[in-house]
Amino acid sequence: MPFEELVHIDGCYFPPFPPLARDAKSHLEAMRDMKTREDDVIVITYPKCGTHWVWEIIVMLLKGRAEYHPLTREHAFLDIIDDLSSLDSLPSPRVFNTHVPYRWLPREHFKAGRKFVNVIRNPKDVAVSWYCHWHSSNELGCGSLSWSEFFEEVVVGQYKNAFGGYFNFQKELYNAVQSNKADYSLCTLYYENLKKDPVSEILTLASYLGVTCTPQLASAVAEKCSFQNLKQASDAVKDHGQIAKAMKEMGKKPPKFYRKGEVGDWKNWYTVSQSERHDALIKKEMQDVDFDLKLIYEI
Ligand code: A3P
Repeated sequence: MPFEELVHIDGCYFPPFPPLARDAKSHLEAMRDMKTREDDVIVITYPKCGTHWVWEIIVMLLKGRAEYHPLTREHAFLDIIDDLSSLDSLPSPRVFNTHVPYRWLPREHFKAGRKFVNVIRNPKDVAVSWYCHWHSSNELGCGSLSWSEFFEEVVVGQYKNAFGGYFNFQKELYNAVQSNKADYSLCTLYYENLKKDPVSEILTLASYLGVTCTPQLASAVAEKCSFQNLKQASDAVKDHGQIAKAMKEMGKKPPKFYRKGEVGDWKNWYTVSQSERHDALIKKEMQDVDFDLKLIYEI
């Protein structure tokens, strides 16, 4: 069975991203202690919730133009960057992104009330997207892993604490935000709402970011960031240097980040029994959620 290469620290499992495989504790502490700028924005997502999509939208909104950034979001992906001080050379405004739980997020950024955006997606579509990601890149030796094996090991099994675990990730974050309401600034977006009504979600996001955005600009950004257009741009326009380097070091090929981009694809994968078992786990996890966490399975 794969997964032996997962990095295990503080109850969480992470893929062996080079800085985590070398010394996870040092890298995670460096992330927590990193200095940020007033106008930096940090996208924090549980994996497969739409990181690439929302990163592109934010970059366009901050620029005030519906134009693709020449680099992929991985050039600002804190989890894979060996030397975080190398980010000092990036021009402002910087849009970082990360999948680590709250305890290792840049603390200064929270305390100073700087901007964070979290994107939430229903856990069943996340599971399917994640399986396809690891399977397509043979990450962790998952190239020959079946969906049902992945379901048993990662969705309901011993590795469900990957990246802290879907529910723990959200609970840790929102509990911290609730206890520090006066200081912390967090915008929550839902993948499914963005899919259903991108223009209105983009206008809400622009208002949170404090940038001027006309309905025309919001429409242009929505169009440039539609699934098909982003997928095409990713192949035609983007420099994949950062992720290619990290994956090469891990001996893997880059995964397919733009797969299907739909809400409800999980129905094509889950058996009735898997769906019921996942529902039972979700119900249990939701018992002590005392913030507004919506799980949207269809639109
Ligand atoms: P699927 O595998 O279900 O297609 P992340 O960027 O966090 O890794 O998330 C990847 C998921 O977001 C993939 O889901 C990907 O296809 C989807 N995605 C990327 N861009 C999208 C877009 N513009 N619209 C809708 N979904 C998008």
